[in-house]
Amino acid sequence: MPPTDLTDRVVVLTGATSGIGRRAAATLAERGATVAAVGRDRERGATLAAESEAAAGTVRFHRADLATQSAVRDLAADLRDSYDRLDVLAHNAGLSAGARTETADGIELTLAVNHLAPYLLTRELFDRLAASAPARVVVTASDLHRRATLDFDDLEMAADYDPLEAYARSKLANVAFTLELADRIGADAGVTANCLHPGFVPSTNLFRDAALRTRLAVRVAGLLPGVGTTRRAAAERLVRLIAASEYGEQTGRYVGEEELTPADEARDPETRKQLWAVSADRVGVDPDWP
Ligand SMILES: NC(=O)c1ccc[n+]([C@@H]2O[C@H](COP(=O)([O-])OP(=O)(O)OC[C@H]3O[C@@H](n4cnc5c(N)ncnc54)[C@H](OP(=O)(O)O)[C@@H]3O)[C@@H](O)[C@H]2O)c1
Repeated sequence: MPPTDLTDRVVVLTGATSGIGRRAAATLAERGATVAAVGRDRERGATLAAESEAAAGTVRFHRADLATQSAVRDLAADLRDSYDRLDVLAHNAGLSAGARTETADGIELTLAVNHLAPYLLTRELFDRLAASAPARVVVTASDLHRRATLDFDDLEMAADYDPLEAYARSKLANVAFTLELADRIGADAGVTANCLHPGFVPSTNLFRDAALRTRLAVRVAGLLPGVGTTRRAAAERLVRLIAASEYGEQTGRYVGEEELTPADEARDPETRKQLWAVSADRVGVDPDWP
């Protein structure tokens, strides 16, 4: 099947300045999309936009540090002002923090960037997405979510921070959030919500701030033949959820190379409901949305 023509579609893509997102941004622009590429660094943003100048579509850079809730709200306002319609909101930005750090809002950094920023940005842009229906929300999660558990008594690991557990927990939150969002929207509202496992992609910058043992493990694993997914293949998985016609209809799916069943905890209705309420509280919004 030929790739979907994305002319006239506006795709918001966070984490577009590096790794999987950078590759996906280029592919989306090649297919004609207007890519609202979100990142922290103006220079990397300008390079990304310049590299896509010859493409059928365009890449327009929007600067935002997603660690800060006020910046997420400002980004939402900027996107609403910049585009009359939003066809896709793709949350791909992510990090793995080697040491426990708190954001300006007093929230553990991994949870803030990987989960709370997508929660808040989706909430702030939901009306525009619904008005642009058919529209999609896409979340880059990870199969590492299977090793985590959501301990609501110590969600931000104040007591005993473990970098890999913090990362895996944020990815479990990504999957649980996506499934809950899909359920709340419903199957016929014209906005789908799906998430993906891009594979293990050792060639990205994801683990640059991770603990030394994690960085070493990733480097060694990346040298083993047959281990890992290329950036190109990972980006294709992301582009598939953003562009393929089936994910304009199917919702609440978790997809890798093929469709996967998420961990039980991500599917558990009580856990999802509690995560939704806690997330709303952490970002200071009414949980009664969409
Ligand atoms: N690599 C893997 O093996 C793997 C496996 C499963 C899932 N994933 C997921 O894939 C997604 C993309 O990661 P990647 O592997 O491509 O890593 P990457 O190369 O480090 O890209 C991460 C992107 O997130 C952005 N980002 C990080 N913190 C941010 C912040 N505070 N505000 C705004 N943007 C921020 C980065 O911006 P800068 O350019 O400014 O740093 C970068 O564009 C992540 O959600 C990750 O969890 C990756």
